[in-house]
Amino acid sequence: MNALSKKINFHDFQPELESFRDAVLEGLSRNPKQIPPKFFYDKTGSKLFEAILEQPEYYIPNIERALIQQHADEFAELIEPGAVLIEPGSGSCEKVQLLLERVLPAAYVPMDISGDFLQQAACDLGQQFPWLPIYAACLDFTQKMILPKGVPSGRRVVFFPGSSLGNFDPLEVQHFLAGIHRLVGKGGGLLIGVDRKKDHTTLDAAYNDAAGITADFNLNLLSRINNELEGNFERNQFEHYAYYNDPLGRIEMHLVSLQDQQVTISGQDFSFTEGEFMHTENSYKYSPDEFIHLANAGGFKHQKIWSDNNDFFSIYFLEAY
Ligand code: AVJ
Repeated sequence: MNALSKKINFHDFQPELESFRDAVLEGLSRNPKQIPPKFFYDKTGSKLFEAILEQPEYYIPNIERALIQQHADEFAELIEPGAVLIEPGSGSCEKVQLLLERVLPAAYVPMDISGDFLQQAACDLGQQFPWLPIYAACLDFTQKMILPKGVPSGRRVVFFPGSSLGNFDPLEVQHFLAGIHRLVGKGGGLLIGVDRKKDHTTLDAAYNDAAGITADFNLNLLSRINNELEGNFERNQFEHYAYYNDPLGRIEMHLVSLQDQQVTISGQDFSFTEGEFMHTENSYKYSPDEFIHLANAGGFKHQKIWSDNNDFFSIYFLEAY
């Protein structure tokens, strides 16, 4: 350990391999077959996701970054100095860097399911912001969101950018908001970026980038199953498919079987018919009315909303009551 990493505490609540195995075996026994999107993020998946963020069709990062840069002072005022900033699904910890100098939080708590990736990101951040106490927690934030021991007191504010909320179906949103409410307590804050409903062409393109990175990201799930769960998927016998499901207000990603085939995973056989869909991700899009309604039901009152000129994306600051 070098001197700079003294302020970085790493807490491992990493889910067991068994939870991945159980989810895959259970999800593939359903009809239609499905696997929860959180399992995209092994080391390769996390890197591919970072590459998605660079694709010109994937409009979210640029819009959100511009909004954060434009309104960082206002965010800082609402978050309040000395707050403890908590980020579930922190990934590369890139966006929070736009806030740290303005907010001057008492501590930063990045949480991510991908342990190696989290450790690297926390170390990099610690080098850039040596004054910042960091309490990195490797955990599955859809299961248990707990603060590591030693986190200082101060108002709890959750930062949840990138429209990660989109992965949850409406019931899971309620569960998640309840978890955040428990974590921050009454008077705590939530600064959250949420993608909006918009024309289908823009949405479809964002999840079908021309370089094929989103397809690789989706198909990497098969490689991960092969590597970690003794699977024998043939990657080139499946195809990425993503489209906007208008009535349900969500992008759906699937892997489509290109032929009748059998796959064995952890000794269990699964058959796929030609053209069969395996559902790998939802990405819900919300109008401000819809989102504020959900937030209110979860015990949060909304204090302010910021949007880009095209109303593609919104950031909300909410307070727990
Ligand atoms: C991380 C859930 C916000 O749904 O836009 C991007 C994941 N999947 N491209 C999204 C994702 C394919 C992303 N979220």
